[in-house]
Amino acid sequence: LIASLQQVDQTYIMVKPDGVQRGLVGEIISRFEKKGFKLTGLKLFQCSKELAEGAGACQKENLHRRAHNGRGAKLYFARVNLEKDSNVDSIEHYKDLKQKSFFPKLIDYITSGPVVCMAWEGVGVVASARKLIGATDPLQAEPGTIRGDLAVQTGRNVVHGSDSPENGKREIALWFKEGELCEWTPVQAPWLR
Ligand code: TYD
Repeated sequence: LIASLQQVDQTYIMVKPDGVQRGLVGEIISRFEKKGFKLTGLKLFQCSKELAEGAGACQKENLHRRAHNGRGAKLYFARVNLEKDSNVDSIEHYKDLKQKSFFPKLIDYITSGPVVCMAWEGVGVVASARKLIGATDPLQAEPGTIRGDLAVQTGRNVVHGSDSPENGKREIALWFKEGELCEWTPVQAPWLR
């Protein structure tokens, strides 16, 4: 009852490319699952450099018209559509860090391989997920936290978590398309919430 009076928030959690390459996806997901938060979105996704630099737009070629030249050969005219393939733009995701010296390396890193995108829901989920993740610098992160247990370098810190409920909503909308999120009621809800 107390929990139901509190604000239910959403946070965007992402296993970064090093976490995927090192086979830590299951381990990271299970930290949030065991804590008792509710998974509402999950996908493996490659955010390409082109996508990142192209403001989230992906070029799709569309053959849309046939014609004949003078010698009877068919000509195909290609129309290039700027079609929104995804909302994702890693530069947009990290826009608050644009002025930082490490920004270009951060974008290279985040687009270097597939990431696992997740949306998690629950009371206090944003702050709690930050605690589960640990400090930005894994050497400063407490043992028991994801970064404290599994990482060494700040630039390879295996996981991302939104830093405010507002950013949670913004980042989920950025990385997930409409229809990719799932509303569901866990049967064990009374025990956890
Ligand atoms: P930040 O939002 O400050 O940390 P957090 O991920 O804990 O919310 O920074 C975003 C990412 O930028 C961070 O996870 C790793 C990278 N980064 C660096 O590469 N070097 C740095 O000095 C900092 C502060 C961050």
